[in-house]
Amino acid sequence: MKRVYLETFGCQMNVSDSERVATSLAQKGFEIADSEDNADIILINTCSVREKAEQKLYTRVGEVRAGKRQKPVVGVMGCVAQLEGETLFNKIQGIDMVIGTRAVGRVAEAIENVFDYGSGYSDLGERDPEYDWTVAEEQRHSPYVAFIPIIEGCNKFCTYCIVPFSRGREVSLPASEIIRQVLEHRRSGVKEIHLIGQNVNSYRPKTESGLESFSGKTPFSRLLRAVAATGIERIKFNTSFPRDFHPDIVDAIEENENLCNWVHLPVQSGSDRVLKAMRRLHTIESYFKRIDRLKASSRDISLTTDIIVGFPGETEEDFENTVRMVEYCEFDSAYIFKYSPRPGTPAYEMPDDVPNEEKTRRFRSLEAVQRAIQSRRMQRYLGRSISVLAEKHSARSSEHLTGHSTCHRVVNFPASDDMLGKIIDVTVTGVKTNSLFGEVK
Ligand code: 5AD
Ligand code: SF4
Repeated sequence: MKRVYLETFGCQMNVSDSERVATSLAQKGFEIADSEDNADIILINTCSVREKAEQKLYTRVGEVRAGKRQKPVVGVMGCVAQLEGETLFNKIQGIDMVIGTRAVGRVAEAIENVFDYGSGYSDLGERDPEYDWTVAEEQRHSPYVAFIPIIEGCNKFCTYCIVPFSRGREVSLPASEIIRQVLEHRRSGVKEIHLIGQNVNSYRPKTESGLESFSGKTPFSRLLRAVAATGIERIKFNTSFPRDFHPDIVDAIEENENLCNWVHLPVQSGSDRVLKAMRRLHTIESYFKRIDRLKASSRDISLTTDIIVGFPGETEEDFENTVRMVEYCEFDSAYIFKYSPRPGTPAYEMPDDVPNEEKTRRFRSLEAVQRAIQSRRMQRYLGRSISVLAEKHSARSSEHLTGHSTCHRVVNFPASDDMLGKIIDVTVTGVKTNSLFGEVK
């Protein structure tokens, strides 16, 4: 039996692809290893969203090659594989096969080809129409949490972003298939599902079969109501695209207890001038309108975002507008990135004119502003009871469990193993910047 070790970088889409690759390889008689020791095949699922992420592939292949043992077969999957294709064989020594983002259903064939005919095999083809979206229970990243892709790819072409090139055009999964998966997960003990996609709220299936009896102003809000009706305990979704964030999504959350208190809505900048250059298709005014609706909700919805600093042409004034925007929105959490030019994107052709030291200064300064807001926001949980899914043992202590709240905060608390997989009320007794501590009362 050949042993395969899968290593995954990047977003939830990659995690989800890896889970399905592991499922199909296990079905075809491969052993899925939990470490690279003695692995016959190492598959690296790559990310190319920023240069640093892409660099990880080079580092990892170097490390694998430096290993003393007999050399395993090395396969590259994911966004770098899709973008670079066969050129990877010349760029990095030691790669045997390249599998594009939509060819993940054919990894077993790729491996067999390398064993039969030697390295240099690539598959950048399209998805098979009969591609199996099922993930076996034992291949999920958690026994209690499952990711379900509802839309793949991206049609938005924000000027800095490589994703439309690495992941192709938007394709929505049929609602009936999504519902089937939710019900199957529910039967197998999953408590929380994440509907995932680059822009979940741009969901637009070819037919609405499966959604006929659900109301809603957009296909996505109809889908949310349909998924809520399955009775699965918790539903989270990300990422949402601001332009398509219809207030009906908030209505759906308010109507259904199992739609969780969390929305991730990447704003990217607080300057209309920069947003336009980024081709984000929203303005600050339209973004604030969406935020105002979320903040006015009867549910305490936690709001998170992504922000890029140092985009080409970003002036000090643009940056100050971003700071003001962050102060207005009071995000519960923000992922801040320094702009990283990606070859092939429209922004790559613009002069990367904010010096790296200035990007770092803006990054640190915005981070400090966000940290202060975040600690203030976190205080509101002190003394409150929040619902937490007990997912696993805490890395720090064997007597503590850790999990996520409905507002998607990490919560640590002392509890015994028989609590694992349960949704419990935890009273918050301590607050850190990124996590909460509590007690089960
Ligand atoms: N440089 C820096 N950050 C980027 N992101 C996407 N492309 C780039 C880039 N070229 C960020 C965006 C996006 C998140 C997933 O990654 O903020 O929302
Ligand atoms: Fe990239 Fe924009 Fe698409 Fe998000 S919406 S994946 S940032 S192009």
